[in-house]
Amino acid sequence: MFTGRLSDLIDDRPDEGIFRVSRAIFDDPGVFDLEMRRIFESGWVFLGIADQARDPHDFFTTDIGRVPVLVSRDGSGALGAFVNSCPHRGSRVAQTLAGNARLHVCPYHSWSFDSAGRNKSVKLKRAGCYAESFDAQSHDLPALPAFGEYRGFLFGSLDADVPPLETHLGEAAKLLDLVADQGPDGFELVPGAVTFTFQANWKLQLENCSDAYHFTSTHPSYIRILEQRQTANTGVAVKSVWESSDYWREDAQGVAGGSFSFPHGHVLNWGIFGVTEALPLFEQAEALAERHGAAKRDWMFNMRNLSIFPNLQIAENASSQLRVIRPLAPDLTEMRTWCIAPKGESAQARRQRIRQYEDFFNPSGMATPDDTVSYENCQRGFASRVEPWLQGYSRGTTASKAGGNPFSDLIDMKPARSVLADAQLGDETLFQSYYREWARRMAGVIGQ
Ligand code: FES
Ligand code: FE
Repeated sequence: MFTGRLSDLIDDRPDEGIFRVSRAIFDDPGVFDLEMRRIFESGWVFLGIADQARDPHDFFTTDIGRVPVLVSRDGSGALGAFVNSCPHRGSRVAQTLAGNARLHVCPYHSWSFDSAGRNKSVKLKRAGCYAESFDAQSHDLPALPAFGEYRGFLFGSLDADVPPLETHLGEAAKLLDLVADQGPDGFELVPGAVTFTFQANWKLQLENCSDAYHFTSTHPSYIRILEQRQTANTGVAVKSVWESSDYWREDAQGVAGGSFSFPHGHVLNWGIFGVTEALPLFEQAEALAERHGAAKRDWMFNMRNLSIFPNLQIAENASSQLRVIRPLAPDLTEMRTWCIAPKGESAQARRQRIRQYEDFFNPSGMATPDDTVSYENCQRGFASRVEPWLQGYSRGTTASKAGGNPFSDLIDMKPARSVLADAQLGDETLFQSYYREWARRMAGVIGQ
C-alpha cells in the first residue's frame, strides 16, 4: 500500500519551470497497484485493431491491466469485447491469442459461450439440482462496460464512467487518421507478432518512444552501421530511411521536427524525412496526395512516434510498428509488437517494410535491444532514494508553447502544446503530458 502523497511523486511547478518525477513511481509496488486500478482498470485502454477479428467468429485475446479480455466478432459481423473470465468459477475461457470459434468452451468445467459471449450450455445442467433463481442470473460473459472503435482502433474500459472515446482521443485522433488513411482500404497487421518482456517498469517504454534525446547515445552501433551504409556498398538490398536523412546526426542543422502534446496523456514526437523512396509508402505518394492533399500526404512521410496513453504506441520511421504495453509488475513489462501496414500495398513495398522492420524494430533488430537494456539499467538505478527526484523532464522547457504551430495547422490539428526544434533539442517536456494525466487519474486514490 502506498501511503505517500502525490506531491512526493510528481513535482510540477510550471511557473518556476520545474517538472520532476520521483523514482518511486517506477518501482513502488503500492504505486503499481494503484496504477493498475486507476490508470488501466478504470479508463480507456487500447485492445487491438478490428482487422485482428476480420471475419465472423474471429477472436483475439488481450488484457486490460490485470484483467483478461476477449474481443470477438459474432455471426452477424458485430464486434464485442468481454471479460475473458468464466462466470462459473472464474477461469480464463479463451486460451489462445487469436483464432476463429463459434463456441468458446471453458477448459475447467466446460460451460460454453458463443461468439457474442452468450452462454450456450451449463454442463450437465439437468443433473445439477439448481434452484430456480439460478436461471434468473445471466451466465453470459460480461461485456466490457465500455467498448469503442475509432477508424479500426479498438478501445475498452472496465469502468463505464469514462468520457466518450472521441473525447479521450481528442485531437490526437488526427494522428491515427494518418495511419488509417495510408491505404484506400485501411491498414492491417503484418503476420508475425512478437512478444517479449523486459525487467523494468512499463513507463520506461512509454517514455522511450517519445525520447528523441537518447537516439545518438543509446544506439551507437546502429549509427555506425548507418554511416557505413551511406559511404560503402555494403550489399544491403533495402535502404533505410535513416540513411537518406541527416535527422539522426548530432551536427544536423535547422528545424527538423518537434513534438505535440494533447490532453489525456497522448503525445507525438516527429521529424521531417521528406517524401522519399526510402519509405515503402513512396509508391503511393501521388495517389495519397490526390486523395488527401499534399499536406496530409507529407505528414504521412514524416517520422512519427505516437503514444496514445496509456498502452498504445505507433512508431513510423524506418518502418512502421504498433506496440502494446502490458505492465506485469513494477519491474516487469510485456510488449506485443507488430509491423503495421496499409492494406493492398505492392509485394515490393511490403518486402521493403518488413526488411526495414527487422533491421530496426525487432527484438533481434539493431535498436530494440539497446533500448530494453537501458530500461533495465534505469530500473536498477531507481532503487536509490538518496536523491529521489529525476531531472529528465526538462529539456525544451523554454521552447514549449501553448497550442500548435504551422506544422499542426497543415492537418488542422490543435494540440495542447507544441515544440518546434532541431533534432538536438530532444524535447522532454512532452513526457509532462504523460505524468499530468497520470497524476490526474491517481488523484482520487493518492492524497495531494
Ligand atoms: Fe468455467 Fe467452471 S470455471 S466452467
Ligand atoms: Fe531507441
